Amino acid sequence: MACFFRRSVAAQLSRICGAHEDVFVPLLSAIPPSKKQLSPGLRLTVNSLVKNGTFSRDADLQTQTERLVKQVKEDGVVQEAVAGHGVINFRINTLLLAEKLLEQLHADPQSFGVKSEILQNLKKGRTLVEFSSPNIAKKFHAGHLRSTIIGNFIANLKQALGNDVIRVNYLGDWGMQFGLLGAGFQRLGSQEKLQENALQHLYEVYVQVNREAEHDGSIQLAAAEFFRRLEQHDKQALSLWKQFREITVEEYKKIYERLGVYFDQYSGESFHQSKTREVLKDLQSQGLLKTTEKGTGVVDLSAEGDLSSYATLVRSDGTSLYITRDVAAALDRKERFSFDEMIYVTDKSQSVHFQQLFQILQAMGHHWADGCVHVPFGLVVGMSSRLGEVVLLEDILNEARYRMLQNMREAKTSKELADPELTAEQIGVSALIIQDFKGPLISDYKFDWQKVLQAQGDTGVFLQYTHARLRSLLRMHSSESHTHFNPAQLQDNRSLSILQHLLRYDEVLLQSSLDLQPRHLVNFLITLSHLASSAHRELQVKGSSAEVAQARLRLFSCTCSVLSNGMKTLGISPVEKM
Ligand code: ARG
Repeated sequence: MACFFRRSVAAQLSRICGAHEDVFVPLLSAIPPSKKQLSPGLRLTVNSLVKNGTFSRDADLQTQTERLVKQVKEDGVVQEAVAGHGVINFRINTLLLAEKLLEQLHADPQSFGVKSEILQNLKKGRTLVEFSSPNIAKKFHAGHLRSTIIGNFIANLKQALGNDVIRVNYLGDWGMQFGLLGAGFQRLGSQEKLQENALQHLYEVYVQVNREAEHDGSIQLAAAEFFRRLEQHDKQALSLWKQFREITVEEYKKIYERLGVYFDQYSGESFHQSKTREVLKDLQSQGLLKTTEKGTGVVDLSAEGDLSSYATLVRSDGTSLYITRDVAAALDRKERFSFDEMIYVTDKSQSVHFQQLFQILQAMGHHWADGCVHVPFGLVVGMSSRLGEVVLLEDILNEARYRMLQNMREAKTSKELADPELTAEQIGVSALIIQDFKGPLISDYKFDWQKVLQAQGDTGVFLQYTHARLRSLLRMHSSESHTHFNPAQLQDNRSLSILQHLLRYDEVLLQSSLDLQPRHLVNFLITLSHLASSAHRELQVKGSSAEVAQARLRLFSCTCSVLSNGMKTLGISPVEKM
């Protein structure tokens, strides 16, 4: 509905300047609520008018701005236009703002923001998001957690904006580690423990056999032998590998469910093992694969063709590498899903890997690689649990739940809950997500449970708390009829700053979808929560006249819907009570 206002202002500008009004719609942004001078309103930067040719670069900009402002007429929507430094601010009719915004939001909360006109120019299509991608039997480290929640957010956002989204988990399920694991399991493994706690057991076996292999050559030989058998598809070796893989996927599914995450496909390096031969054949026939003196097969990625930069795709013993499997996987996915864009989410240490991958695809003539993106993120240090270092995803979730439950018990809030453990887990997870999404993804950060789980301040706990309080207020008044709504009762500063903030929701979604950074949405929701919680304190519902109460309830219920939708997009389940 922000569009209603943009449209009206754009229509005026179009009449004055001659350009079509569509040109102005995306240029008008809502003024953030902190800028009090001329709010609520819309803003147009003069630079954007220069860029699209509406203003002449050579003439005096200030004069042009002032002239334009003078030509703007006050009408039903625009109450005032003022030339600022490099911007034009339009104050809009606040009665109309309350009426139009809440009318639309109330009628269809799900499409608010996401169906906005300023988002319609984004390309829509099929988006494949590959994320999480842990390695079987190895540690699920903080990087995998980040990939999981970031990828989930990107998938949710893309989906909310009308794309067809495919979620892929690319497991590390092939390689020498399976030689060790296989050999180790034959000596140290137990089927019983595997059924009891598969991930833990496989990890323990893997750690133990690695330790032993360090000073026992026979284990290394056994590992190499096991892997050789695997590569030759020896029935017995393959069946053990299959069991490890299946049981791991089953376990992961359960834990991902606790996070509210799911995948359409569990693929992995193993699937592309056989396809790598075709990739190498292709490269060869195109003359792209060069054999080095050391006997390795490389693809030249340098501009000069002098091998100053290259990627190795074949080892000297003829086996393939991580990147070879990624080329095969990309081709397979394109064929299978015919995606328009593919997004890989991993830590920044793999940035070069993905740049090389995209370059190789281009060199092979697959220009759809233009639609492939790597979203890199920084390192997290110090994520540990009471039991020490975190090795499984489950450990992180259990720790978050445990700590949150402690906090809730101390605050004596857990008693009235139907399922305190579940609530504690949902709040704990939201705390992890907000902490992780607050800054630029590329930044490293130090993990601190205390800070993460604070109830005050800009945390996930605070968002949940605000949401739960609004829900409780709405439940309390749910029996009252909501037919009459008078926007004149929402003209105080607190209500207006919420409305003004809501006007920005679509812009924030646009920003996040352009740079794939969740922080725009996170900051929007945190500000919304601050505004909502002070409004909740100051704007009484109980004891107010029926008309005032109705108007405030409408404001609170709409605010709560946007908060809830935004949280869900981030991957957070909003709680009803806490
Ligand atoms: N399994 C890898 C790791 O843990 C991440 C896989 C990333 N995706 C890819 N297509 N290479 O580091």
